[in-house]
Amino acid sequence: MDFDIRSCASAEEVRQASSAIGYYFGRSSAGEEQMKRFARVLPVERVYAAWEGNRAVGGLAALPLQLTVPGGSVQAAGITLAGVLPTHRRRGLLRAMMRALLDACRLAGEPVAYLWATEDTIYGRFGFGLASFSAEIDVPRDRSAFHGSFSASGNVRLVPLAAAERDIAPVYEKVAALTPGMFVRSAPWWQDRTLADPEWLRGGRGELQCAVLEQKGRARAYALYRINWGFERGLQAGSVGVVEAVGESPEATGAMWRYLLDIDWLARVRAGLLPVDHPLLLLAAEPRRLSFSLRDGVWVRLLDVKAALTARSYQERGSVVVAVIDEFCPWNVGHWRIGADGVNRTDEAPDLRCDVSALGAAYLGGFTWTQLVRALRVEEIVAGAAADADAIFRTTRAPWCPEIF
Ligand SMILES: CC(C)(COP(=O)(O)OP(=O)(O)OC[C@H]1O[C@@H](n2cnc3c(N)ncnc32)[C@H](O)[C@@H]1OP(=O)(O)O)[C@@H](O)C(=O)NCCC(=O)NCCS
Repeated sequence: MDFDIRSCASAEEVRQASSAIGYYFGRSSAGEEQMKRFARVLPVERVYAAWEGNRAVGGLAALPLQLTVPGGSVQAAGITLAGVLPTHRRRGLLRAMMRALLDACRLAGEPVAYLWATEDTIYGRFGFGLASFSAEIDVPRDRSAFHGSFSASGNVRLVPLAAAERDIAPVYEKVAALTPGMFVRSAPWWQDRTLADPEWLRGGRGELQCAVLEQKGRARAYALYRINWGFERGLQAGSVGVVEAVGESPEATGAMWRYLLDIDWLARVRAGLLPVDHPLLLLAAEPRRLSFSLRDGVWVRLLDVKAALTARSYQERGSVVVAVIDEFCPWNVGHWRIGADGVNRTDEAPDLRCDVSALGAAYLGGFTWTQLVRALRVEEIVAGAAADADAIFRTTRAPWCPEIF
C-alpha cells in the first residue's frame, strides 16, 4: 500500500502522528491534557505523519527554536516525535518524513536542525553530526565536599512551581544567551514543559521542587529537582534527582550545588544532561566520587551551510576552505571559505574535506577539527589546516542542552 507523507491539519491528526512514538513509551494514545500542552509549543503544521489511508503509522515534528550558537543565535528546527509503528518499520517511512520535514524547515528559513537521538546509529545518514557530549553524575552525599577554598554565599528559598517562572526565567535567559546548545524558552515552554509536573511524568519519583538562590537581593541560580526517598535496613538509601541546576556566576552555581548536595536524609545526588565542562568536576574535593560519565548529547544538521555558518562567530582573522559532501541535502555540496570575514562559496582548492555531519559536530564548538581529523571524520588536505580551523572556530564554553526535547 502507498503512504502519503504530509503535515497535520488538526489537533486530532497531531494526536495520531504522535501515537507512533507514544507506542514505544507503552501508551496507546496521548491524553487530552498532554496534547494541549504540546499544542502550545508545537504548531500543528510542523508535525508530519506517514498516512496509510486515514491512519497515521509514523510521525516526525520540528519545534521552532531559537538556538544559541557561538557568538549569536539561529532559528533552528528541534526535531522530535520520531516514530514509526513496529508494523511498518524499515520501509523508508522515517526517511520520507525526514525529507519532507527538513525541506519545509529550510524553506521556512531555518538553517539548522538539531535533536536528541534514542539510538546513535539513526541520524548520521541524514547529515546529523554528534555535536556535544552530555554528562551524568551519581555522587554519595557524604563524599561530596568541595575544595577547601570554596565558601557558599546567598540564601536559598523554596518556590512553588506555579510562581517559579518569574524568578528563574531571567537566570536561564542569561546563561542560555551565552551557552551554545541552549535555546530560548517561551512562557508556554516554562509552564507546559519545564515546570509541568504531571503524575504520568514522575514515574514513581518525588514531586518536582524548585529552589532559588538569592545573592544581593536577586535570584542568581536555581535548581529543579526531585526527592526520591528510601531506606534499606534503617539506612538512608534515597537520592536527590537533579533535573536542572543553572547559575549565572561560578559563585552562584557552586552555592546552588552545595545546597543540593547538603539536603539531609538522602544518600546520593544524581544528575544528567550536564555539559562536559561542568564546574563540579573541579569544585569537588574528590572528583572521582562524582562517577562522571559521558554519552552522546545533541546532534546537529546544517540545512543551509552558508546561513548556518554565518550565524555564528569566529575567533580570529583568517579563514579555511572546506569541501563539503552532503548526500541528503545536495545544495550544500561545494567548497566553502569560512572565517570572520564571511562564509562564501569558492572555486579555490580546499584545505579540509568532510561530510556535512562533521560540520555539524564542529558547529557549536563541541569538537575541534583536530579531533575530527583524528577520528577520520575530516580529511586534512593541507598540513596544519585543522589547527588553523581550530583557532578560527575556538569557543570558550562546551555546548550544553539541559533538556531532552
Ligand atoms: C527509528 C525509527 C523511527 C525508524 O523508522 P523506519 O521507518 O523504520 O526507518 P526507515 O525505514 O526510513 O530507515 C531509514 C534508514 O535508517 C536505518 N534505521 C532506521 N532505524 C534504525 C535504527 N534504530 N538503528 C539503525 N538504523 C536504523 C534503516 O536501516 C535505513 O537505512 P538506509 O538508509 O541505509 O536504508 C523506528 O524504528 C522507530 O520508531 N523506532 C522506535 C522509536 C525511536 O527510536 N524513535 C527515534 C526517537 S529519536
